[in-house]
Amino acid sequence: MASETSPGIVDRVQRFVEEHKTAVLIGTGVAVALGGAAYYASTSGSDRDKKKKSPKPPKKRKSVKDADGPILEERKPKAEQVPDEEEAVAPTPEALAAMSLEERTTLAASYKSKGNAAYSGKKFAVAARLYTLAIDVSPKPEPVYYSNRAACYVNMTPPKHDLVVQDCDEALKLDPNYVKALNRRAMALEGLHRYIDALRDFTAATILNKFTDQNAAQSVERVLKKLTGEKSAEILLKREPRLPSFTFISAYFAAFRARPLPDVGDAPTTGDSTLLLALQALAAEDYPHAVSFVNEALAQDISSEAHRAEALNLRGTFKFLTGDVDGAKADLQESIRLAPAFTQSLVKVASVHMEQGDPTKAFECFDEAIRQNPDDPDIYYHRGQVLFIMSEFADAAENYTKSTELDDGFVFSHIQLAVAQYKGGNLANSMATFRRTLKAFPTRSEPQNYYGELLLDQQRFEDAVEKFDRAVELEKLKSPPNVLPLVNKGLALYQWKQDVGAAERCCAEALRLDPECEAAVATLAQLSLQQGKIERAVEMFARQAELARSEPELASALTYQYASAAQLEFMKNYPSMAAELRSMAQNMA
Ligand SMILES: *[C@@H]1O[C@H](CO)[C@@H](O)[C@H](O)[C@H]1NC(C)=O
Repeated sequence: MASETSPGIVDRVQRFVEEHKTAVLIGTGVAVALGGAAYYASTSGSDRDKKKKSPKPPKKRKSVKDADGPILEERKPKAEQVPDEEEAVAPTPEALAAMSLEERTTLAASYKSKGNAAYSGKKFAVAARLYTLAIDVSPKPEPVYYSNRAACYVNMTPPKHDLVVQDCDEALKLDPNYVKALNRRAMALEGLHRYIDALRDFTAATILNKFTDQNAAQSVERVLKKLTGEKSAEILLKREPRLPSFTFISAYFAAFRARPLPDVGDAPTTGDSTLLLALQALAAEDYPHAVSFVNEALAQDISSEAHRAEALNLRGTFKFLTGDVDGAKADLQESIRLAPAFTQSLVKVASVHMEQGDPTKAFECFDEAIRQNPDDPDIYYHRGQVLFIMSEFADAAENYTKSTELDDGFVFSHIQLAVAQYKGGNLANSMATFRRTLKAFPTRSEPQNYYGELLLDQQRFEDAVEKFDRAVELEKLKSPPNVLPLVNKGLALYQWKQDVGAAERCCAEALRLDPECEAAVATLAQLSLQQGKIERAVEMFARQAELARSEPELASALTYQYASAAQLEFMKNYPSMAAELRSMAQNMA
């Protein structure tokens, strides 16, 4: 299963940051990080906060969409006073020219009152005309006239989103802290599917209202969801299929025991020879060449069905790794058709079924594989993995044990057995299994690394770091090395001593060795966020999105990316709010 590798770390990093309430973003967990401080939009505390504000007038005009609209700023006129078209009459240019500034201000205010009355009587076109008159005669621009006219456009059928945006632009130019205009523009932008702009406005409204506006906070989440849904679909459609990071691929292949090269005899065909090159490249962990050779081999004359099944198995595996799940399934199933006893293909089809969310079919594949070859240790190991994912730790442990009984030279069966015992609550057994495994595989980094993870989980920081260090040393002897122990070490130093600098250095080193290591990028992103380096966090989340393999990983990275970008935008647009945000954070802490 691929799921045992870096995405696990990515999840852990995000969970860690959320659990430790350090820096969480609006919409993702809700808060803003700035200058090392954290801000929470505690939805639970908002009832108390609301009481501090002046009580809202009762909402009577239910059918008017914007119940908080402009009329509520005024006294409510009686119903019979609702103005009609005749009252929306402009003064003649001569009359206007003769007026003093005060007279014009008074006239504008009277148009506005009539506009409010018309609005309240749901005559939105009349109200809009009256606000236009107020704008035209007023000697100085008033944000409320624009914002009120925007409210009229909101309530027209269909709503005139473009005009709402235009009027709110004017209102906000005059008064950037006009939250009502921000919310109104945000909704119009959402209606126009301009989600990035809508998110910017809803985010600003949420922060300006000191996180007490539940509607705005929910809107942030809703728009973020629409935005990431749309963007991830776009990205997945356009994206060239490509292999994940070296660390990821090598972990995936390491989950299968090595098998001898196929015997192609004395006179191999061109296809046979190319297949051998592919398998040799694979053994040398040169994945790009393995891919191109196997594709080439399948276009050539492979001499036997068994060899062809071998080639299809390999090509299907690479398709699976590039995210082409359907293509992978087709290749692997064809491989099984040609060689029904090829249990590795059956096991891999099982992981395709799991990727497609169908455990029943996955278990059928394992059963079939056991019928074909009951002594293949890979089957039990991978069935253990599926059971592990489903939190069936006792069955998983049994299957790992069976796998080690059939072949005790495969390090991952031992490690996973220990982890399953740990997850099943059997701490003493788990630690004993780990100690045995460390002794049996002194030159392998993996037992050190995963033992370190369990120690970290128990907050035994010093021991954990020691194990990660040992794993890093062992990996240094390999080229290229697996960099997950380095990322783990960084995370451990951060959790232990809040040593952000050390954690960042570990991740930077990991990226130097494997520039596509998602776990390192994700950790750097969260560390940047936590320190209030939002600009850098946005960059890192964008990189994480580039590297994300599956749709949920992509959506998660994009959510963080857009949420932090919106907050960055807020800080640019409202520089004076930075200090206030900081004091808000202290109050919430
Ligand atoms: C492995 O898991 C299966 C459930 O899928 C269970 O029935 C079986 O007993 C477990 N143990 C072994 C040794 O196969």
